[in-house]
Order: sequence, then structure tokens, then C-alpha cells
Amino acid sequence: MHKSVQDITEMKAESKKISVVTSYDYTLASLCDKSGIDVLLVGDSAGMVMLGYENTIPVTMEQMCMFTEAASNARKNALLVADMPFMSYQAGVEEAIRNSGRLIKAGADAVKLEGGATLARTIRAIVDVGIPVMGHIGLQPQTTMLHQGYKVQGKTHDTAATLIQDATALEDAGAFSIVLEMVSHEVAGIISDKVRIPTIGIGSGPHCDGQVLVIQDLLGMYEKIKPKFAKRYMNLSEDIVNAISQYNNDVRSGAFPSEENYFSMNPGEAEKLRDEIGS
Ligand code: KIV
Repeated sequence: MHKSVQDITEMKAESKKISVVTSYDYTLASLCDKSGIDVLLVGDSAGMVMLGYENTIPVTMEQMCMFTEAASNARKNALLVADMPFMSYQAGVEEAIRNSGRLIKAGADAVKLEGGATLARTIRAIVDVGIPVMGHIGLQPQTTMLHQGYKVQGKTHDTAATLIQDATALEDAGAFSIVLEMVSHEVAGIISDKVRIPTIGIGSGPHCDGQVLVIQDLLGMYEKIKPKFAKRYMNLSEDIVNAISQYNNDVRSGAFPSEENYFSMNPGEAEKLRDEIGS
């Protein structure tokens, strides 16, 4: 049986840190799940790392459902949370409910939405139909590109106060946890102390109840943007390029395939065939 929303919320009560990584495809999601990660997040960052978009704005519900299905086919132990893409929940509560239901049908256990207090009514409505919601405040990539750009959030008293109000509003609306993206570590700590639900930080310091990284950043596979907060545990892109160029050389030189990579007819059959067709 995989982890439940309750298992994750209880981790905060037991002072256990929560590990989250993004997953969008069967192969990597299987490995993340096998490594004992608590939550797999099908983030709309898929738009950038899987589809090559400049930002997450173009991502569609169809794409998110496909990534969610792939991760869900792989997951055995972790909780699976899927992102609601830009404009799948902003136009109205009914549409938000319908779209969160689509992600649940695709295999997610919960959905994640970007936004603070202004989204509380929508979150309450989704929770009321029985779908667990993870909030997401601080830097909100779906809208940030439209106005402020990638900047640390909560650096002043006033912006910090708004973030704290947003976090409380999400908790009151029934969210089971909140992602804090690029929030100053002091404010992330204050929010984590204030709310009972777990906070999951990305670039928000050590006081959050859990941490999330984009899997391509963690593995050192995504070269376009290398954020300061994304710790690279290996340089997989280098190893991948080396392996593929060795294959390329082997194909060109004829070193691949060798005997262990191909198949033979039964003994005597090839000769029989050659005699028959006269070759
Ligand atoms: O889309 C995503 O991957 C996210 C995480 C970075 C929190 O929202």
C-alpha cells in the first residue's frame, strides 16, 4: 500500500522530514519510488524539463494527465501529487473541480495549485468533493513570468506578512500541505511553525517540514537553468553524453553490435536456407 495524505501530515507531527521529487515518466518515477522518497510530484515543470518550453505557461491538462498516468504506473510506495497547469483552475470553481478530478482519474492522490488567499475558495471547493490539495505560495512560476520574474519572496516585513496570511488561508481552506518556493528562510521558518500542515520548501531553507527538487536538477541532467537552491547530486548529463557518443563511435566503426547483442538461427538452418536459395 502506498503512502496516504494522512501519512504525510503525520510526519510533521512526528518531526520527520518529508522528501519530495518531481516525476513525469515511468522509468525515472520507478527509480524515485524505489529509493524511498515520500512524495512524487508530477510538477508542471514538466513543460520545461520534458517538453522544452521556456516556462510552465503552455502546459495543458492533457499533458499533465499523460505525465500523471506514467508516474502512477510506476509508483508503489510514495504519495503521488499532480500539478494543475496554468488556466486549469483560475477561470472558475467548477472547472477547477472538474480538472482536479481528471488528474485523480489519471492516477494522482492529490493535486497542487499555485496561489494564496485569493485561491482559498477554490481549494475549499476541491477539498469538499474529496480531493486532497497541496498549496503553493512564494514564487509562483505560472504567473511570476507575467509580472515580477524569478525573485526571492518575503524579503521585507510587508511581503512576509502577506505570505503568512496566505499560508494560514490555505490551511483554513483545507490544504494538507503547502509548497514554499524561494521564500526567505526566516519567513519559511515562521510559516512552518505557525501552520499545522507540512511545508515543503524549494529554495526556502532548512526550517521547512520537507524539501522538493526537480529530478533533472537533482541528477544534473537539465542544463538550461541551474538555480542556486537545486543541489546536483550527480552530473548525469555528462555521463549520458559520453555514453551516447561511445555508442555513436561503435556504430560507425562496426564495434556494435557484437555477438552478445544479436541472435542466431537454430544449428544447420542457415546452411539449409542458403542451399535452397542458392546464396
Ligand atoms: O512544477 C514543479 O516542479 C513544482 C515544484 C518545483 C514545487 O511546482
